[in-house]
Amino acid sequence: MVEKFAFLVHPRNTLRQDMGLLFGAPFRLVPEAALRTALRRLPLPPIVTGQLHRADRPEEITGSIITVPLTPTQLLTLPRNQVQARISAAIDKAKDMGASVVGLGALTAPASGGGKAFSKRTDIGVTNGNAFTAAMTLLAMERLLARLPSDTLIALVGATGSVGSCLTRLLARQHAGRLLLVARNRRRLDTLAEEVRSDDLAVSVSTDMADVRNAGLVVLLTSAPDAILRSEHLGQGAVVLDDTVPRNTDEGLLRSRPDVTIIDGGLVEIPGFELKGCSIGLAPKLAYACLAETMLLALSGHQGHFSIGAPEVHQAEHLLGLAARYRHLGFQLAPFQSFGRKLDTIESPAKTSLFTGKEIVTCAA
Ligand SMILES: NC(=O)c1ccc[n+]([C@@H]2O[C@H](COP(=O)([O-])OP(=O)(O)OC[C@H]3O[C@@H](n4cnc5c(N)ncnc54)[C@H](OP(=O)(O)O)[C@@H]3O)[C@@H](O)[C@H]2O)c1
Repeated sequence: MVEKFAFLVHPRNTLRQDMGLLFGAPFRLVPEAALRTALRRLPLPPIVTGQLHRADRPEEITGSIITVPLTPTQLLTLPRNQVQARISAAIDKAKDMGASVVGLGALTAPASGGGKAFSKRTDIGVTNGNAFTAAMTLLAMERLLARLPSDTLIALVGATGSVGSCLTRLLARQHAGRLLLVARNRRRLDTLAEEVRSDDLAVSVSTDMADVRNAGLVVLLTSAPDAILRSEHLGQGAVVLDDTVPRNTDEGLLRSRPDVTIIDGGLVEIPGFELKGCSIGLAPKLAYACLAETMLLALSGHQGHFSIGAPEVHQAEHLLGLAARYRHLGFQLAPFQSFGRKLDTIESPAKTSLFTGKEIVTCAA
């Protein structure tokens, strides 16, 4: 049986812009600081800001987008009980609207231990969406690695996180070569490295972003409120796959580092659906992989929680199976784009940089 779902989002740190998009142009005139204070101090309820419909059944709402009224910085820095109470209120709203599964979008997952804070709820299934995100990120990496030298060092920045640890385990099963795991907590890095290291896979760890300079492929999986991967962290011609929402890369990198390619990660095509009422910052027919995981679970009639904390490899595989089953509605890796602009595959020997072949992706600005 097909179930309804809900997906939680929140405004970005560019609050005026997002509040203007959500609630109308006058909000763009309110000073940022006043909006931030209002979100922090007022007991604002969660708000339903959009609906997803099947393109072939436009009269039916299959899912709702619910906005948790907190900024990225507030989600990560306000007292945990306050933040989780706000997220919990949004989950209550999802339940009241008839959803059987709710996805924790963007920083609502890191702010709740990947959903562990809600694992005792039995009235609705919760998923952080990170199993499908890891699976889709692996597919994107395979596509990129096919064009890179076989000895390319891959840096997974945020490797010990919910998406990061699932991706590390998926990659370790099939990839031979060199892997650099980066995060701030050394103990967790060492434990993960020990688990995945093999005769075929040399795994090093670092808590210093400067070490990312040695990598040809950088996969960004951190949960910071704004940009942390900067020009000085990137080697010549590096390819960056950035899964983070909100982005932990700054668009200024496109100008300051034209040798570097930055690809928006974790994006999935959903031509079988239409989003109405709000923007989630993506072109029509595109979804974040965590939203796609929530949709796949609802479509398949899944009951109970799914990805909580760090998802397991078999969960990523299960979702790849569901994506194949519902292929007629989409759920395939989206074509590469960079900061929302299409990346075209072109022949350009002058820009082959780290790519082995002539075919590379460049930004069609
Ligand atoms: N595109 C999509 O569809 C999609 C889907 C799911 C998630 N995401 C995004 O993916 C990101 C990760 O989500 P998650 O749930 O896996 O988060 P998470 O569990 O909190 O993991 C974050 C990881 O980043 C590390 N980290 C955090 N801040 C860092 C910093 N300043 N410098 C270096 N490492 C840092 C953490 O380790 P330490 O604490 O030890 O540093 C951890 O390894 C988020 O931005 C999320 O919104 C995107």
